[in-house]
Amino acid sequence: MGAEILMNAPGGERAEAVASGGTALSIANLSIAQRGRRGDKSLVTHIDLEVGDGEIVGLVGESGSGKSLTALACMGLLPRSVAVTGGDVCLDGRSLVGLEPKALRQLRGASISMIFQDPLSSLDPCARIGAQIIETIRSHRDVSVAEARREAIELLDRVGIPNAARRMRAYPHEFSGGMRQRVMIAGALVLKPRVLLADEPTTALDVTTQAGIVELVRDLRRELRMSVLWISHDLALVSQIADRVAVMYAGEIVEVADAAALFRAARHPYTRGLINSGRIRPYGERFSYIPGSIAEPGFWPSGCRFAPRCDRVQDACLGEHPSLAGEARVVRCVNPMDDEQ
Ligand SMILES: Nc1ncnc2c1ncn2[C@@H]1O[C@H](COP(=O)(O)OP(=O)(O)OP(=O)(O)O)[C@@H](O)[C@H]1O
Ligand SMILES: [Mg+2]
Repeated sequence: MGAEILMNAPGGERAEAVASGGTALSIANLSIAQRGRRGDKSLVTHIDLEVGDGEIVGLVGESGSGKSLTALACMGLLPRSVAVTGGDVCLDGRSLVGLEPKALRQLRGASISMIFQDPLSSLDPCARIGAQIIETIRSHRDVSVAEARREAIELLDRVGIPNAARRMRAYPHEFSGGMRQRVMIAGALVLKPRVLLADEPTTALDVTTQAGIVELVRDLRRELRMSVLWISHDLALVSQIADRVAVMYAGEIVEVADAAALFRAARHPYTRGLINSGRIRPYGERFSYIPGSIAEPGFWPSGCRFAPRCDRVQDACLGEHPSLAGEARVVRCVNPMDDEQ
């Protein structure tokens, strides 16, 4: 199953990353809720996920499953009225939850950086993009304007902005959506962060530019042992870039496995459905999809949250909420699939 997705998988690099050892980002038992006058509404519950030194972890799952909120919590940038209600996020062993805003600002950029899903949210509409990138560099490093300018142009060139030196003078609104996304990627990478959170980083890009960005991120992981959490709906892309993959459904992680193992034979019926939905089929053949829709926060079933849509559902799935079980391959399912199914 899903074998075509794996055809060009970078096996050597994967093996190298897995062998590295240390943990850069550790998310432990993280819960996030919307605060309201009538109490909290859970949006994300008990996330456990680690990203090792130089490792690229893919985070996938249907729209609304909580991927962006998980990444925003790591940056200390949750929307107003949404808050971390439990657990912790550690960067090289240092807790980020509850850090003073000033201490967090210092970590953002050089230690942990994010490519946001919405490119306009992280660019200042009133400042030229060159000035924005130069300021980011100079606010973290003691370099001259000329040196920062040289670095900014080099990076813009690397993310595929034509005439980078001239485009430094443009404002964000003068770029197309895809160009803005490239500028934002340059902005997130300019300080060569220890950990990069990339939230749908290449959705607005054509495939050749996307390939260039993927290579840039791979180069940085090799050169700097940068660790990456790569959020995407594009499973084919995730299967090519990620060492490990975590799958989210209705606010929780339902499966984590090495990318190759997951795409070969996922254990959770939801993951199987997701991979099958993304398969390229011959013309005229019916698309496969998961019937129904994801349960909204506040309406999650008490047992397995996927049970109402699952074709393998049993009585046990409707009882107690299943926990994540297993070692190298963890799955939250009382009736998981095996390699033969
Ligand atoms: N500011 C907010 N206030 C209240 N609820 C929110 C807020 N932001 C997100 N949510 C809810 O939290 C849940 C998770 O949202 P999130 O944006 O993390 O999903 P996602 O997995 O990133 O989805 P997508 O793939 O569409 O980007 C959704 O049900 C969403 O409606
Ligand atoms: Mg999102």
